[in-house]
Amino acid sequence: MQHVLIIDPETDFLEWAQRHLATDRVGVATAANADDGLKVFSSLKPDLVISEFHLKPVNGIEVLKRLRQQDPQVMVVLATAFPPTNAVIEAMKLGAFDFLRKEALPYDLRPVVESALKTRETARIEEKPSSDAPVDLGDVMIGQSPAMQAVFKMIGRVSRSDAAVMITGESGCGKEVVARAIQRFSPRSSRAFVAINCAAIPESLLESELFGHEKGAFTGATAQRVGRFEQCDGGTLFLDEIGEMPMHVQTKILRVLQEGEFSRVGGNETLRSDVRIIAATNRNLEKEVDEGKFREDLFYRLNVVRIHLPPLRERPDDIRPLTQFFIQRIGKKKHNPRLRLSEEALDLMESYNWPGNVRELENTLQRASVLASTDVLTARDIPLGIGKATASTDSPDEPIAPEAAARALLDAAIASGEPAWAFLERLLAREALALHSDNAPAAARALGLKPAQFLKLLPAQASI
Ligand SMILES: Nc1ncnc2c1ncn2[C@@H]1O[C@H](COP(=O)(O)OP(=O)(O)OP(=O)(O)O)[C@@H](O)[C@H]1O
Ligand SMILES: [Mg+2]
Repeated sequence: MQHVLIIDPETDFLEWAQRHLATDRVGVATAANADDGLKVFSSLKPDLVISEFHLKPVNGIEVLKRLRQQDPQVMVVLATAFPPTNAVIEAMKLGAFDFLRKEALPYDLRPVVESALKTRETARIEEKPSSDAPVDLGDVMIGQSPAMQAVFKMIGRVSRSDAAVMITGESGCGKEVVARAIQRFSPRSSRAFVAINCAAIPESLLESELFGHEKGAFTGATAQRVGRFEQCDGGTLFLDEIGEMPMHVQTKILRVLQEGEFSRVGGNETLRSDVRIIAATNRNLEKEVDEGKFREDLFYRLNVVRIHLPPLRERPDDIRPLTQFFIQRIGKKKHNPRLRLSEEALDLMESYNWPGNVRELENTLQRASVLASTDVLTARDIPLGIGKATASTDSPDEPIAPEAAARALLDAAIASGEPAWAFLERLLAREALALHSDNAPAAARALGLKPAQFLKLLPAQASI
């Protein structure tokens, strides 16, 4: 017979879970707080513990640690209504079997319990729980959707190891945020995190950027230069837009991954560096491999663990929490903790398909907050209509004819119910300000206005 211990302060939940899980092969014990739970654990030695994350006097992470100190092979499943990202990552890193979102529990509990008990029976867990101090960074990433919860669990699992990670997903989905989270939760967290955008560095310079060069290696190499691989020894190197990497650099990266060795451009000395590589791409690399544009052997070396970030339109559950997160952050920055969105504005945010993903959502809120006239941003303050019109055209890169743009603006102005001219002035001022990173004099210049004229277009409360 196998035993399950459930720790949860809610009696109803305990009763339900006990009824739901107990069979002639599985015994179920319960405890209402962390201390009792730990006591029952010591005497009963259960195979699986299911614990609420929010417990007193210590939380679920602490319980997990203490349980695994006593029995490194015990299966632990944490659960809570809205799992905080950091807790999910930390729990998986410490070896939790799963972290459940409680909302989904009546359906999810039994399969998870069965698979945890089976794992307990058949597998030996080699991994010792890490003794690192828990990371407390405030949530680095937001996401309540099942897809993002799976991503957080993956981050927790991979952060323990040095395995290469490949992060895929559309632009603006959060690939860099994931790379940074892996680093922050890894044993390399106190070491360098270096991000290189392979698409932003000219092909001729990328090799020297990564590996350094010797004096005189090429025209303009007037002094020896240490590359990123050397700088990053002991740390994490994030190779963004890896699909853009030229073939000869791919070959050198492969050598580092296989042998841990490289040499500077124009140099003979063999150098070594202990670097964990995380790569990201918004391209289909499998296809690039098929077409001979990306080395297959390098692809497999980089793709040891794959984390895919679905586009925001495929995880609409995340729009609301992300919106609230960014609004809070913007409010804090502007010393306006009352800044928020009206319910109608939130609905509008949720109904949009966000082709530019989280980055577009964040930028939209930033723009809206610049010129909103009150603490509550309404649907009218959210400049989505125009984004939608351009985003839905077949080729978004093609410039829109000024007449068509003017027509769309006029439609939007009339629909706003405001005097059209005032609406347009305000809109232009807002866009110019966003384009010039909140620099009012530069925005005024762009519009051909004197700063004083421009400032009149901004609501008095706007802090810029
Ligand atoms: N889950 C998330 N929680 C909080 N912020 C997020 C999340 N995902 C993305 N962001 C924010 O959205 C913006 C875009 O994220 P990021 O730069 O990681 O995207 P990316 O996938 O690397 O995009 P690109 O392919 O264009 O480089 C950043 O400002 C980041 O802070
Ligand atoms: Mg990026």
